[in-house]
Amino acid sequence: MDFSQIIGSSASGNMPKRWLITGCAGFIGSNLLQALLAADQQVTGLDNFATGHQRNLDEVQGLVSPEQWRRFTFIEGDIRNPEHCKQAVAGSDYVLHQAALGSVPRSLADPVTTNEVNISGFLNMLVAARDAGVKRFVYAASSSTYGDHPALPKVEANIGKPLSPYAITKYVNELYADVFSRSYGFHSIGLRYFNVFGPRQDPNGAYAAVIPKWTAAMIAGDKVVINGDGETSRDFCFVDNAVQANLRAALADIEQSEVFNVAVGDRTTLNQLYCAIQSALAGNGIAYSHTPEYADFRPGDVRHSQADVSKARLMLGYLPSHTINEGIAVAMPWYIAQPAK
Ligand SMILES: NC(=O)c1ccc[n+]([C@@H]2O[C@H](COP(=O)([O-])OP(=O)(O)OC[C@H]3O[C@@H](n4cnc5c(N)ncnc54)[C@H](O)[C@@H]3O)[C@@H](O)[C@H]2O)c1
Repeated sequence: MDFSQIIGSSASGNMPKRWLITGCAGFIGSNLLQALLAADQQVTGLDNFATGHQRNLDEVQGLVSPEQWRRFTFIEGDIRNPEHCKQAVAGSDYVLHQAALGSVPRSLADPVTTNEVNISGFLNMLVAARDAGVKRFVYAASSSTYGDHPALPKVEANIGKPLSPYAITKYVNELYADVFSRSYGFHSIGLRYFNVFGPRQDPNGAYAAVIPKWTAAMIAGDKVVINGDGETSRDFCFVDNAVQANLRAALADIEQSEVFNVAVGDRTTLNQLYCAIQSALAGNGIAYSHTPEYADFRPGDVRHSQADVSKARLMLGYLPSHTINEGIAVAMPWYIAQPAK
């Protein structure tokens, strides 16, 4: 997708803007990188490769022109180190802060490291961005902040109690952003992503997300395990929708701190997702006929999740470009091209 209409294309005489993406070697970060470079922007990236990969950067390099790639500067560094944050943010107008340790199960297994990266690292970035006087700090918040609040669809103002250490960290990010707005007049925008998926989302490892994990298993002809009864539901959001929300949030004319849901506004159960991936594979000539295995529910998981995206639509002009099935169709050739593990 071409995002230069949102940014203002260089073909129409706009000067390139200067961006910092933290977590640029990860899934969402590398998709932001691709979108910005393809729109002729100047980008710095910060990552420590904790869960991101050099191969994601290499893939982006292959998708943009050599001239566009020359506008990218990579800094290998850690957001837990204030100096690395300061160095990375220098000269940037817009910060898209994605670096964090994702995954609810990871945070249950190691809450201390998740806390250090997601809270102390976040605070380091917020301080660095405030001190550098950037025009806008946009950060990856999370739908996990809705916790045990039962209402559906989820509306930004109504949140419950967090159900995992990960959810706590993402909520604390919002609290810090709000306090920086009130105390220092440094305003930022949090994007509560709902189950983002698409090319370059890691299908491997214990903490892989459901869509890349199941798709890789089905391609390999392995059994798929569904945690719970399969009626758990999510608002799966194709990564282009998340990229669009970031760019609109960065450039929006908003003079206070805000948080926005970023999703489609639909709800898909895990049983429906299983069938959707199976049929997208069939459309690509891969027949998969196993039935799923059902296992215990995962601790810390929210039962149902669906976003109300009207706030983002009204204040950012956000309009999701892809439904779940359209996103799976776009991503499928990428999943199929991945080397077998
Ligand atoms: N993918 C989703 O569905 C989803 C949903 C809600 C929120 N989020 C949030 O979106 C952001 C991006 O998630 P993603 O899915 O792209 O995950 P990802 O793991 O692919 O990307 C995170 C990136 O941050 C980097 N990173 C981690 N710790 C770091 C540190 N200490 N210093 C520097 N870099 C570090 C990793 O190496 C990785 O490249 C995260 O903040 C995540 O919590 C994602």
